[in-house]
This record gives sequence, C-alpha cells and structure tokens, in this order.
Amino acid sequence: MPSATSDAVTLDRLRAVCQPLLDPSGFIPGPEADERYCTDWSRARGQPLAVLRPRNTDEVSRLLTALHALRQPVVLQGGMTGLTGACVPQVGEVVLSLERLRDIEEIDTVSGTVTVQAGVSLQALQQAVEAQGLLFPVDIGSRGSCQIGGIIANNAGGNRVLRYGMTRQSVLGLEVVLADGTVISRMGKALKDNAGYDLKHVFIGSEGSLGVITRALLALQPLPVSRQSALVAVEGFDAVTALLTQCRKHLGPRLSSFEVMWRDFFDISTGLLKKGRPGLNLAGSHVVLVEAMGMDPEQDDALFAQTLGAFQTDHSGCEVILAQSLTDAQDLWSIREAAGEAALVVAPWAGFDVSLPLAHMAAWADEVRARLRGMGLSQTQTYGHLGDGNLHLVVGLGPEPTRKAEVHELVHRTVGALGGSISGEHGIGLAKKAHLHYCRSAAEINMMKLMKTSLDPHGILNRGRIFDLP
Ligand code: LAC
Ligand code: ZN
Repeated sequence: MPSATSDAVTLDRLRAVCQPLLDPSGFIPGPEADERYCTDWSRARGQPLAVLRPRNTDEVSRLLTALHALRQPVVLQGGMTGLTGACVPQVGEVVLSLERLRDIEEIDTVSGTVTVQAGVSLQALQQAVEAQGLLFPVDIGSRGSCQIGGIIANNAGGNRVLRYGMTRQSVLGLEVVLADGTVISRMGKALKDNAGYDLKHVFIGSEGSLGVITRALLALQPLPVSRQSALVAVEGFDAVTALLTQCRKHLGPRLSSFEVMWRDFFDISTGLLKKGRPGLNLAGSHVVLVEAMGMDPEQDDALFAQTLGAFQTDHSGCEVILAQSLTDAQDLWSIREAAGEAALVVAPWAGFDVSLPLAHMAAWADEVRARLRGMGLSQTQTYGHLGDGNLHLVVGLGPEPTRKAEVHELVHRTVGALGGSISGEHGIGLAKKAHLHYCRSAAEINMMKLMKTSLDPHGILNRGRIFDLP
C-alpha cells in the first residue's frame, strides 16, 4: 500500500482541491479546527491537516473521489464518543466529519422504519420515533452525543442487547460511499432480500475502514408502554446467574436489561460520585440493575415484582429496590451510567470491554484483579452487560501510565485463552489492534485485510485502524 508520507499533500493543495466541492463553512484548515475534531472519549489527541464538513452523500462522494486521487488519508468522525482512539486524527490525516448530515428524512409508521442521515444523534432519533409510538432499541450512555453513522460503523451494543440485539439487528439498509467515491445505496424496506451478498453487513462494525456510511434505513420496534426497573444486591456470582435465569424464565421477552456492577464500581458510583438515592446502602458482592419493558402496565408491574420477590425469598440476604416512579428509575440508571465519570476518577486508566462465556466470567475477573493487585494496581472498576456476556474493566494506572501495555497484555491474553473476545462492543480502533490475534485467527485477519485492500486499495480510510498493512 502506498505510504502517505512519501508524497504528503499540503494544506494549500488540499484547500485548492476540496474547497470548491463544499460550501463556505465546509472546509476548516487544521490550525483553525475546534478541539472537538482533535480528541474522542479515549482522551487521545491529534491534529488534523484540515476538517471537511460535507452536507450530503453527493458531497462525500465528490470529496472522496478527489482524496482518493490524491492518496490522501482520511479519518471519519461522528460524535467522537468512541473509546478506541479510532477517530483521533493521525499525522497527515484530514477529518471527514458527518456532523452536518442531520436529517431524519422519513418515519414510516406502517413499515416501522426510519430513514436517517449519518450525523443525527442517537437521542434525537430516539425522541423523534418515540413521538410516533415507536422505539429505536439501541441505547448507550453516550446517546446525547453519539451519531447514527458511528453507531452503525461500530455495531454499537449498549444496554438492551439481550432483548433487541446489537445495532446490526436494526439496520435494514445503508448508503455508503467507498474510498474512491463510488456510492453504494441499498435502502429497501422489505425485511427479506436475499439477492446475492448482503453488502451492508460488510460496513456494519467495520469502524469506518471500508466505506463512509452517509444514510441508513433502520428497523423500529413497538414502543413499550410499561417499564420496570430494580436494583438487586446479591452475594456471589452464582446468585447473579441464578437471577438472570429466573428473569429470563419469568419475564420472557419483557426482560430488556441485565446490568451487573461489582462492588469496586458500585461503591465509587454511589459513594464518591453520589449517584442514586442519598443513603443507598446495599450489601452483597454484586448489584444488578434489572429492567423490563412491556405492553401491559398493570400485569407487567405485578409480574416484575413477583419475579424479584420470589428470587429474594429463595436467596437470603438478597436485597431488592424497586423503582416506584420514573425519577426512581432514572436514579437507579444514573448509578450504572456514571461509568464515564468513574473512569475519570482513576485517570490515566486502561479500559476494557471483553466478552467471555458466563461460566468463566467471575473467576476471570477475580484472577485478573488479583494479578493486577500483585502489580500494585488496585484501583479497578468492574461492571457490564452480563446478559450479553460483556464485561467492562477499568484499571487506574496511577503514576506509571507506561504500564498500560502490560495491563492490556494481561487482560487480552487471558480472555483469548478462554475463547472470549477482546472487544464485545467498543471495537479495535488503534487502542487494541496489537491484540486482535488473541481472538481472531491468522486466516480471519488475512481475510479482513483482503477486504480492506480490495475496497480501499490506497488505504485512505481510517488507515491503521483494526490492523496495519505494510
Ligand atoms: C458502558 C460503556 C462504557 O457500558 O460501554 O458504560
Ligand atoms: Zn458497555
């Protein structure tokens, strides 16, 4: 793959080529770029050569045609809430921001779909479809800032995967611009379409390395009219899995979230960060946030209370706090959603989102944290989407941030050895590419590289993310 550095494009040349393709506020020279284009939630930082802000698919296509001819590396940006550094500009890269593609084009209440541009925020989309009695089921803590294009490019997970699946399950169609400017648009509303390869899946979760998502057709769900939330404090991980089994059995498809917090996270969130109701004092090794959503408020409330009540009867020492109102529910969720804030408390940190078979999860977490303590790293925060087998671990690195590589190695190697994944939802980006081999075979990585080189022969899109090419 040709290197960008051998024949670097200057800012003047870039301006001459790109500015005529954009409106006056579409081109920002790097030195004038706002800080928001330089950093994401991983807190890595870089300086773009320039920022390009197209308004539609056609402008993205024209820009990429030109940038492809120039062999100019491009980093794609949405809401900048990623945690793997993938959207942080690397040396010599221009930013292609999708932030101005902000139209919710159509909500079709009959087919239960929404057609949306890539730069719409998740929260704006959620609110717009809820006003029509529909639900876009993907939900993540960064909903106010993250954008639909980024969510799809990363196949975001979040809090309701156990009921509605990852983002992939909600994508019916995509419009994508390839590295050379070619537009691939397949936005059909029919659920069934088996005419050859289903190309959208190549781009979902590709972390912007295979094409630029500009529009999407998304599947919506009926908006639930009842919602029940509770905190359940239990002793021992066996009680956590027993609770999951009970909830699955008795709540059936109503069960929408099963978030588990180990004490090392729960105590920081409720103590230091004062989340949840004042004076909330729960014993136990784990605190579970259970949520159900349904269509029959009275019956659903009763079933939820009954399910947790029966569990409590069978597990002495278990405590249950049922939310009695929307405010109560928001209070409970605020404890779990303090994850970002909690990480800041132990900055600089190493953050993980591993996936593991549930049978191995507790022992793995205990052993890794014991080894970290042995390394003098005792500030940990452990929590996750247990219904999906997805665990987050945050490790405060203290005064020796250079130990990050050592911590990454320990976590990823041990997860790989158990047949887990080094990323359940956040992706690989720059932060984890050195360890992709712990959960993907050489043949799989080779196939990924073949896809990359055939769709992006000059390697201009999100170069060096996920893996390196020569
Ligand atoms: C969460 C993010 C970190 O689950 O994925 O809070
Ligand atoms: Zn998560």
